[in-house]
Amino acid sequence: MKISVAGAGYVGLTTAACLAEIGHTVRCADNDAAKLAILQAGKVPFFEPHLEELVTRNAKAGRLLFDTTENAVVDAEVIFICVGTPPLDNGEADLAAVANVARTISQYASGNCLVIEKSTVPVQTGQQLKRQLQLYARKGLYCEIASNPEFLREGSAINDFFHPDRIVIGVESEEAAAQLREVYRPVLDQTFRCPLHAPCVSAKRPAWIVTDTKSSELIKHASNSFLAMKISFINMVADLCEAVGADVSQVALGMGLDPRIGAAFLNPGVGFGGFCFPKDVQAFVRIAEKAGCDFSLMKEVEKINKRRINYFVEKVRKELWVLRGRRVAVWGLAFKPNTDDVRFAPAIEILKALTREGSVVSAYDPEATEKARAILPEVNYCATPYEAAQDSEAILIITEWDEFRSVDWARLRSVVSRPLLIDGRNMFDPKEATTHGFHYVSIGRESFFSTLAEDAPVPPRELKTAAK
Ligand code: UDX
Repeated sequence: MKISVAGAGYVGLTTAACLAEIGHTVRCADNDAAKLAILQAGKVPFFEPHLEELVTRNAKAGRLLFDTTENAVVDAEVIFICVGTPPLDNGEADLAAVANVARTISQYASGNCLVIEKSTVPVQTGQQLKRQLQLYARKGLYCEIASNPEFLREGSAINDFFHPDRIVIGVESEEAAAQLREVYRPVLDQTFRCPLHAPCVSAKRPAWIVTDTKSSELIKHASNSFLAMKISFINMVADLCEAVGADVSQVALGMGLDPRIGAAFLNPGVGFGGFCFPKDVQAFVRIAEKAGCDFSLMKEVEKINKRRINYFVEKVRKELWVLRGRRVAVWGLAFKPNTDDVRFAPAIEILKALTREGSVVSAYDPEATEKARAILPEVNYCATPYEAAQDSEAILIITEWDEFRSVDWARLRSVVSRPLLIDGRNMFDPKEATTHGFHYVSIGRESFFSTLAEDAPVPPRELKTAAK
């Protein structure tokens, strides 16, 4: 099947590479000439595990091509719209890029083609899209629209494509449903050779959900909003735990074992970030408002999330007393592990607050340094977590990279000025850190003070030097 994917961002490029991997011929389009040049040279302009190898392999096999949108849609049977829908100032999704692609399709596509919205769009966008395509369609072009929301997560996008829990499509005809089923047949039947696992660890077939387009559009916004709500809920429970001396990890464990609640997305921390949740929650509130529904619940979810930054900075202040002039190490800049994405990342806001207060910050992230540097050039970025921790009076964990789990405690203890670990993601068992001589402060749990740290205080670096 001849497939075009408009937009080579996280969703578009992953979709294009994975569709090529399961045997389709895919033209992936982007109007950013610089990005196109990178892709045509066989490189991926952002970090996503396994994506580059998929892009390279399929480009070499001739199944994955990169082109302008005008060229890419010319003889496509199926076109996925995967362009960005960033938030406008009022929180609504900006659909300008979607409208642009629609205009290009109507002017350059030919014959019968199925145009599918994959970008996260407000409910009823499909109707607008259809109207646009009909209004501007050149002679001989007949377009049908469909919705097929994308649920893949950054950092595990390839696995999520090949092994989804469900594939949701919103269609206007049985023919469109059959065509989309054909697109996804290898994934639905799990008949392809999974490039990530040999043998494949997941033989489970995804659910195939066929709805009308409006319901399909709502499934995406409602799902992301619900997950965001779960995070804000557990963050409030964490605050309550701190106030009364309970342990949020145990509370979350006890709650999550109820299958109606589920254990996922009950990790408290510095709040949700990334390009999806913050904008989708805002957009969902606006969608509801426009439809005359006061979804104030989601406004609270947003407020609680925004408060997490200040909550964490205050936690740091409580430990350090004053922030001005204090050396602080920040571990983790990406909005979550296994990505270099810092869009709406809590770490960026925390860094801004700390530098505004006059703290001297050194930061480390395995992948996101360059993207963070582009936003905050004044921060001292380091090549290792130990370099960032050198002479620090507090280490702050903002992103739970696996690398931090296997920290060399003795080495870390030897470089810091004061052994204080403030863990914004509850990565460690509190007692573990204390056995290595660190004071350990986390989220919604009791703080643990190491007797080792008390017994053998490490003098500040200046004093050590002076004593020599
Ligand atoms: C999300 C949805 O999960 C995905 O289905 C959709 O397609 C796009 O939006 P993504 O933005 O990649 O995916 O990240 P996700 O893994 O969902 O995490 C979002 C944020 O929530 C991160 O900042 C993460 O740190 C935070 N989070 C997640 C928590 O704070 N606690 C949790 O328990 C889970």
